[in-house]
Amino acid sequence: MLRHPAFFSRGGNRAQLLIPPVDPLHLPLSTLLPQSSLDVLGPLGQPYLLSAGARRLLLLAFAEPVAPIVAISHWAERQGVATAVIIGGEQWQPLVSLLPESAECGVAGLNSSALEQALLWADQVVASLPPALFGALAALTSRLRLRLAPGFVKVIVARDYLCGLGACGSCALPVPGQHLLSCRDGPLFDLRELL
Ligand code: FES
Repeated sequence: MLRHPAFFSRGGNRAQLLIPPVDPLHLPLSTLLPQSSLDVLGPLGQPYLLSAGARRLLLLAFAEPVAPIVAISHWAERQGVATAVIIGGEQWQPLVSLLPESAECGVAGLNSSALEQALLWADQVVASLPPALFGALAALTSRLRLRLAPGFVKVIVARDYLCGLGACGSCALPVPGQHLLSCRDGPLFDLRELL
């Protein structure tokens, strides 16, 4: 049986997990009683690091998991980084109440002038969006900024895990010519690596 990922939306002394209602973990976790035991493995993967010199961060919440978008927005605020968050539809509206007051928020589609302006404003992007939209985001970024620079757009790719240690290959990403493991190398990947 594979382990299913859960993402923190806040860290610190008391961590906070944000589990969507449709997630298979939602029911078992929501019925836990105080002092219940959990078998948990983690944290897995690599930490999020802003590129050197980046001061304007654009976060895109177009799909689950959105918890990392919340977590990164708070982390960015603590770093003094200007943050804009674009949600991909009204269904993500409840997310806004979890974001820091300092974050600019808006709702926009992938083919919108608002997103185009935000892509031109940002010097780093982190996106949670369906894999089917990876190519469209890459093409839009390339058109507006004349290239898709390495590390400019990072995308969150979640997988279920078997070992969580980079040993079994069960979380490998289907990218030809690459050996990318979500548990070891992710969950954030340079969009360029996934095309
Ligand atoms: S879960 Fe085994 S390699 Fe990632």
